[in-house]
Amino acid sequence: MPQPLAVVGISELVTLSGPPRARTGAEMGDLAIMRNGVLLVRDGRIEATGTRAEIESRITAEYEVIDAGGRVVLPGFVDAHTHTVFAGTRVDEFERRARGETYEQIAAAGGGIRSTVRKTRAASEDELFEAARARLKWFLRNGTTTIEIKSGYGLSLADELKMLRVIRHLNESGSLRTVPTFLGAHEIPDEFRGDRDGYERLIVNEMLPALTREKLACYCDTFCEPKIFPVESARRILTAARHAGLGLRIHADQLSRSGAVELASELRTATADHLEQTDSAGIETLLRGGVQPVLLPASAHTLGSKRFPPAREMIDRGLAVVLATDFNPGSSPTPSMPFVLSLASTQMHITPAQAITAATINAAYSLDLADSLGSLEPGKLADFAIHDCSDYREIAYHAGVEPAARVFIAGREVYSRS
Ligand code: NIG
Ligand code: FE
Repeated sequence: MPQPLAVVGISELVTLSGPPRARTGAEMGDLAIMRNGVLLVRDGRIEATGTRAEIESRITAEYEVIDAGGRVVLPGFVDAHTHTVFAGTRVDEFERRARGETYEQIAAAGGGIRSTVRKTRAASEDELFEAARARLKWFLRNGTTTIEIKSGYGLSLADELKMLRVIRHLNESGSLRTVPTFLGAHEIPDEFRGDRDGYERLIVNEMLPALTREKLACYCDTFCEPKIFPVESARRILTAARHAGLGLRIHADQLSRSGAVELASELRTATADHLEQTDSAGIETLLRGGVQPVLLPASAHTLGSKRFPPAREMIDRGLAVVLATDFNPGSSPTPSMPFVLSLASTQMHITPAQAITAATINAAYSLDLADSLGSLEPGKLADFAIHDCSDYREIAYHAGVEPAARVFIAGREVYSRS
């Protein structure tokens, strides 16, 4: 067992302690900050938090003392929506969009997701693993310690299983924690153009049984859009996934308001993600279904859209909002949660405190991990970062700076900038 730790000299110990449920309304603005805080860690878990005066007498010679030097300590970010495993980049499409083409035009011409599918199919499991492992460092440098990762660039039985095995291997590699989501319904692959029903049968009859036999996924997601997987099709896929024992998430209302949030509510999915096109009625529908919205402002930003999800209204109406990067090679090539926090404040007008709640404890609830992650409370896993600032709001404010100086997972240092 590693030596117990005492982290001292913390200007703001951002604990996010509070009621044992996803935070809503005014709770989202309360980070439960301890000034001049001390964090004790034992056996990979949080032993205690308190002010220097309360805790100091408990720090015996047995502890390794870490001086945070007057900086902020935050729980590790939980990034609840990423597509981190893929081959290549789509930097050519980035430039084409700069010249005026749209994401949809590029996709209709055979680019977009299908272009990453071709490259991902051509890559070996080892190549995909090495490429993704390098990206995990980018997340750590930004203070993220847990990421959900979706498949969805394989779109054949063998290639989807290949992606999910890479995600599992990443989880075992001693870097970040990863949560696997099956996204076979991300796009219709080239060989099934014009035969969506045939592809749907492949997902339901072959992919779902195979990946559940190998226990390769915790969740199933579907890109619900009229021209990709319309509501009827998404309902069949998600229902089959639920019968196979998977939790449910859904890409909803990204490009059009198509009935996806109504489906999310009907199926009581854990989350509905994107929601750029969602209106007040949609918010009401999500509330009725107990669905957590996962907002991805970096993808609206990257696509050059002015249309961001109505985050303020969602919080005011009582939804337990989550923020995530959507890291992927097309619509959101950033792994940076601090950049997402900045966009949340500048484009969606939610405060840094609300944004941090959305990126930590609420995200942990959305992945059913809040028993052990998302806040710094005794008994939880010691996943935290020392950020290079004395006021937590600077993490969102200095967009573009990688703020994490030292990052710990289960009490073990996994990244140090120096
Ligand atoms: O969440 N919208 C679907 N999926 C991704 C984009 C994936 C890609 O373009 O490669 C998203 O934005
Ligand atoms: Fe996505």
